[in-house]
Parts: sequence; structure tokens; C-alpha cells
Amino acid sequence: MSVSVLVGSQWGDEGKGKIVDILSERFDVVARYQGGANAGHTIQIDDNQYILHLIPSGILRDGVKCVIGNGVVIDPNALLDEIEFIENNDFDIEGRLFISQNAHLIMPYHKLLDSISESGTKKIGTTGRGIGPCYIDKYARKGIRIVDLLNRDLLEKKIRENLQEKNNLLKKVYNIEELDVEAIVEEYLTFDKKIDKYIADVPSLLNREIADGKNVLLEGAQGALLDVDFGTYPYVTSSSPTSGGACTGTGIPPTKIDSVIGIVKAYTTRVGNGPFPTELEDEVGEHLRKVGAEFGATTGRPRRCGWFDAFAMKYTTMVNGIDHAAITKLDVLSGLDEIKVCVAYEHNGKNLKTFPSEVERLDQVTPVYETFKGWKKDISGCKSYDELPSETKTYLDYLKGTCGFEISYVSVGPRRSETIVCE
Ligand code: IMP
Repeated sequence: MSVSVLVGSQWGDEGKGKIVDILSERFDVVARYQGGANAGHTIQIDDNQYILHLIPSGILRDGVKCVIGNGVVIDPNALLDEIEFIENNDFDIEGRLFISQNAHLIMPYHKLLDSISESGTKKIGTTGRGIGPCYIDKYARKGIRIVDLLNRDLLEKKIRENLQEKNNLLKKVYNIEELDVEAIVEEYLTFDKKIDKYIADVPSLLNREIADGKNVLLEGAQGALLDVDFGTYPYVTSSSPTSGGACTGTGIPPTKIDSVIGIVKAYTTRVGNGPFPTELEDEVGEHLRKVGAEFGATTGRPRRCGWFDAFAMKYTTMVNGIDHAAITKLDVLSGLDEIKVCVAYEHNGKNLKTFPSEVERLDQVTPVYETFKGWKKDISGCKSYDELPSETKTYLDYLKGTCGFEISYVSVGPRRSETIVCE
């Protein structure tokens, strides 16, 4: 039996989908613990590419149970589209998908409020999926949850009450047209028939699986630097992608967690606004974007690209307790003459001792780089660590030594077969 947490260790888009897909071969259950359809997990199986937003990538492996935990916020339309997509691609879903009764529902007003907020002066660069406003309602204790789908009268009452308040806000504060109450009530009342069969008591289910000796993988979305507490606030998402969120987002206690796997992209990317010390706005950044196909899986936005930031990684390794790392997209660095790694942040002539909390200070730091010799060889065919060019191994050994984790997997291409297992 083992329970592992899988976290994105940078600003998201580290390639979690592929690694969850690989790992799910040895896990019986994969449970997602936070975020919503703002995430986009890309998995390449043979010549087919699958992009999932809500349902764990384990659904693409026969027999793996997939769970959406209470920490996730669910857009019912996005969920049903994804269920249809999975079924159309001949993967079984019935009896394999379980959705927490305590997960919150994204409502049409959440998306509207997300876009209103983004039209103001402080733009976070959200995905526009209503994530922040849904978590606001959750913590304001006004949310509508998956369990409410089981009681139509109560569901209708809650939607009407919430809409009355939101329509007041839209009209009186934002001076925009009110939402159509009847249309929304009608739409949401249809979801129960389609979603009811997946609703489960997730904490009981997961703890039973653990007691039965099953292997459970807890899958985070986004990344540690987008964490609402530990990320580059306020340029963050509204949930806890760090490993602590795995417990609060599923109902598995911390005493049951055995290991934390960090997904670590071999360079850094970020979408949306906010500080990014190692960002490259030159031809190397363009090279990374082009070769790495660095465009958002959810929004299609070009991702900002830069060198690996070991200073930030040491911080996220600490906060998450990462013991094992999966290095992803290493092949994207092939062909570069030299590769840099940020080892420290300089601020006002001094190196900072710790990762700064204030984005204003983070915005002003100058990265201090260590430079490595690049490699020209195409590494996508390498099947073992030993087959990698010596320059590649030097780079990996440096990341391992400086960040303080073991490297368990190295991904050298998007396919399942393009993965080196180092254990
Ligand atoms: P939200 O999660 O849509 O509210 O967006 C908040 C911030 O998180 C923005 O900078 C988004 O670009 C970023 N973000 C949200 N989801 C992802 C993701 O899956 N990958 C990378 N960035 C994300």
C-alpha cells in the first residue's frame, strides 16, 4: 500500500498529465484534490492526444478508479463534455468515476464575475473559468455543492437565493444586465440525472481503499507557485495545489501520505500575469515556446518561458516536501549551446536568503545564473539514464543536488514510451 501526492512544482503546466498517466499503471486509485477546469492535462497515447481538465488522467488506464475530491470546483457542463469525450474515445467511465458530494459547483455567475474582475485594473490573467468566484462563495458559505444535486427542491431554492443576491450585485454595483433565473434553474436541474450516479462519499471510499492495501495517487493541478498561500500572491489561483491541499481536498489524513512526487519541468513557464524572474523575452524564450509547444491546453494562450529557477524550486521542494521528482520536457533543451540555471536572487546588491513573499520584491530581483554546456543529440530515443549525453547528466545531477530531491523519472518526449525510469 502506498499513498503518494503528485504536485506541480513551478507555475503549472509541468506535464502532470503525462506523468499521472505513466504512474497510474501502478496505482489503483487516482484522486484529484483541487482546482477545476482551469487545468489542462495533456496525454499522448500512440498517435492520439487527449486533453483532460477535470477528470484524473488515470481514466485512460483500464481498471484505475478516478476520484474528483471535495477540493475541486466543478463546472457541470465541462464535466459532462469530458465524460462524453472519454466515452467517445472508448474508455469505460461507469463504475470508475467518483465525485465528492462536498465538491462545489461552478455557476454561470462565477464565470461572469471572473470576467468582470479581470476587466478591472488589477488583472491576474485568469483562465476565465469562474474558479476564484466559486472558491469565494465556498468560503463565504454560499456555495452550491454536488450533494445539492440529489435534492431538487433544495437545489432550486439555493440557486434562486444565490441568483437574487448576484443579480442585485450585477445591477446595483456593476450596472450590467441581470442573469436569467429561470434558464439557470432549468439548466442546473437537468444535471442531477446525468451526474447523480457518480456522486460518492469520497473520504470513506478513499480511506477504505487505503485500508484494503490499495495504492492511491493524489493528483494536484496548477503548481506550487500558484498556491493561494505559498505562491506569488495575488498572481495565484484560488486553491492549494501544494501537497497540504491533498489532505484537505480529499479527506485523506496527513498520517497516511508516504511520498510527494514533484513534477519539475526542465525549464520554467508561466501563463497569466505576475513576476517571473528567469523569463526570457529573446530568441531562447521563443525557442522554448516553439519546441516545447508552450501554449495553454485550456486557453491556448502562449506561455511565458524562461530558464530553470533552482532558487524557487528549493522553496517549493521545502513547502511540498518533495522527495521524488519527475523531470519533464528535457528534450526541449536539446540543441541549445548553453543552458542556465538560476541559483540565487540578487536584490539591492545582496543575495536573498529565502524566496520573497512580496511580488513587488520578486519583481525587482536579478537572477544569478550558473551556466551549463548544452547538448546537440536528440535524446527522445534514450531509454535509460546512462544513454543520455554526459552534458545532460551533468545538468540533471546539478538539479538533483541543488534542489534536494531524487530523480525518479525523466520525460524526453510526449509519448508514454519516451520516459526514462531511474528507480
Ligand atoms: P484561475 O485559476 O483561472 O483563477 O487563474 C489564476 C492564475 O492561475 C492565472 O495566472 C492563470 O493563468 C493560472 N492558472 C490557472 N490554471 C492554470 C494551469 O492549469 N496551468 C498554468 N496556470 C494556470
